[in-house]
Amino acid sequence: MDTKAETKCCCADSCQKYDEIANIIDLYKGKQGSLIQILHLSQQIYGYLPLDLQQFIARSLNKPLSEVSGVVTFYSFFSTKPRGKHTIRVCLGTACYVRGGKRLIERLQSMLDISVGETTKDGKFTFEIARCIGACGLAPAIMIDDTVYKQVSPNKLDSILSKY
Ligand code: FES
Repeated sequence: MDTKAETKCCCADSCQKYDEIANIIDLYKGKQGSLIQILHLSQQIYGYLPLDLQQFIARSLNKPLSEVSGVVTFYSFFSTKPRGKHTIRVCLGTACYVRGGKRLIERLQSMLDISVGETTKDGKFTFEIARCIGACGLAPAIMIDDTVYKQVSPNKLDSILSKY
């Protein structure tokens, strides 16, 4: 079956993205271990993996939705909700936890007015937890996109976030 013929969408932008994803599915279909690759590329194109898109991918690959959803929920780098422009990750590995990582989470939750796993209303930040980001010697640490901030205290957060 031609995947492109199944494309369904409600607006031009979404339609174009579904077309791109359909092309990727056609390219990878039938190849060993292709599901993760397809999901990864689909997330790059669409920004996240909503249920409709998971259904589209499952149908196109003749796989049950449960298999696709199972992979999406298993790997933390897949997201089922729209993500913010920047991702803040507070480390809660052992060293950071012991040295105050939890206080950073509490302060960020009140500064951003969201809980862990959520995105701010203005779409600027997605807030997540990490499990060691390789800066244990200078804990507690946080990461914003690819930048690591070490020895962070709650009162340093304002000036760090103001850069974004
Ligand atoms: S535990 Fe936080 S950087 Fe390693």
